[in-house]
This record gives sequence, structure tokens and C-alpha cells, in this order.
Amino acid sequence: MKQVSYEGLTFEPYITRETIDARVKELGKDIMRDCAGKSPLFVCVLNGAFPFASDLFRACEGLEDAEIAFIRLKSYEGTGSTGVVKQMLGLTDDIQGRTVIVVEDIVDTGNTIARLVADLQAKNPAEVKIATLLFKPEALVQDVRPDYVGFSIPKKFIVGFGLDLNGKARNLNDIYILKED
Ligand code: IMP
Ligand code: MG
Repeated sequence: MKQVSYEGLTFEPYITRETIDARVKELGKDIMRDCAGKSPLFVCVLNGAFPFASDLFRACEGLEDAEIAFIRLKSYEGTGSTGVVKQMLGLTDDIQGRTVIVVEDIVDTGNTIARLVADLQAKNPAEVKIATLLFKPEALVQDVRPDYVGFSIPKKFIVGFGLDLNGKARNLNDIYILKED
């Protein structure tokens, strides 16, 4: 794997596709164990979570009543969080009494997920769980704790496997980290 550049910034290889695959399969097993006998609704947060949600949902093929839905949120501009969660594409599914698994690419400040979980809780689900491919614990400012975490990482900017810089780099198969020097 080589370095990649976007908007004059250089990124170096950080987490390989193989490592992601192996970890997603483990998360799938954890979710299948915890959701045995339930009919969970996976809620993929667009745009960033689509590759992770695609893999995670299929890693849970033993959950025969599982379903998936999509919503859209946005809080980032460039490489920093704006703190304001913008653009919501609402959930039309009835989630009352159901187990909901929110699928995120990354939990950074936690602003996005906290807002979303509050909105979902208002619809009286049985429970709301959070599955995130990446988690930056040092950046967290909200009182939320993801239930399923792929990788905990330092407070650095990363791209690839769904994660973007101003819309670009989502199609990288591996995850890359911003090179600082
Ligand atoms: P939060 O609301 O601060 O937790 O940010 C969550 C959203 O910000 C994620 O869904 C991503 O879209 C974006 N984000 C946070 N950190 C990164 C990063 O390192 N690279 C790309 N996007 C990020
Ligand atoms: Mg996102």
C-alpha cells in the first residue's frame, strides 16, 4: 500500500482491508449472540457508514429477521467537526418496540450519534445500540458509549472505507491516516 493525497494532504496506510474484514466478522458474531431471537433494524448512517454497514449486515446473516434502513446526517466540513448536525433524511420505519442498531463509520465528538439516538429514543424502540467501525475516545464530548467498536483510534483524521475528506476518498479499500510533518 502506498500513500494517497487529497486536497494537498498526504495520508499513509493505517488499517488494511483484511484487518477490517476480520474485525467486522467478530462484531457480527457479537451482534448475532446479543440479538438472538430478536428482529433488529440496522440503521445505516449515510454517507460514511455504507461500506461498513454492508459488510456488518451480511456478517449477521444468522439473524433471519434482521432488516436494514438508511438515514443521512452530516456534521463535518473538511477535517474538523462543525458541532452542528445537518441534513437529516428521516427514518420512515416504525421502530416502536424494536431493537435498533445504529451503524456509524466513526464516533468522534459523539455529537452526531447523541442527536440521532435521542431522536430514535423518542420513537419508543425496545433498545438502541450503537455499532461503529471507528471510535476516537479522546475526542468524545457527549455522554454516549458505542456498544460495538471496530477499532479505537487516536484523535487523528482518517479517510477510506467510507470515510471522506470533503466527499473524496470513500472508495479506498483500506483506511489511511493523515500524515503530520
Ligand atoms: P461526531 O459527530 O463528531 O462524532 O462526528 C461524526 C461524523 O464526523 C462521522 O460520521 C464522520 O462523518 C465524521 N468524521 C469524524 N472523524 C472523521 C475522520 O477522521 N475522517 C472522516 N470523517 C470523520
Ligand atoms: Mg458520517
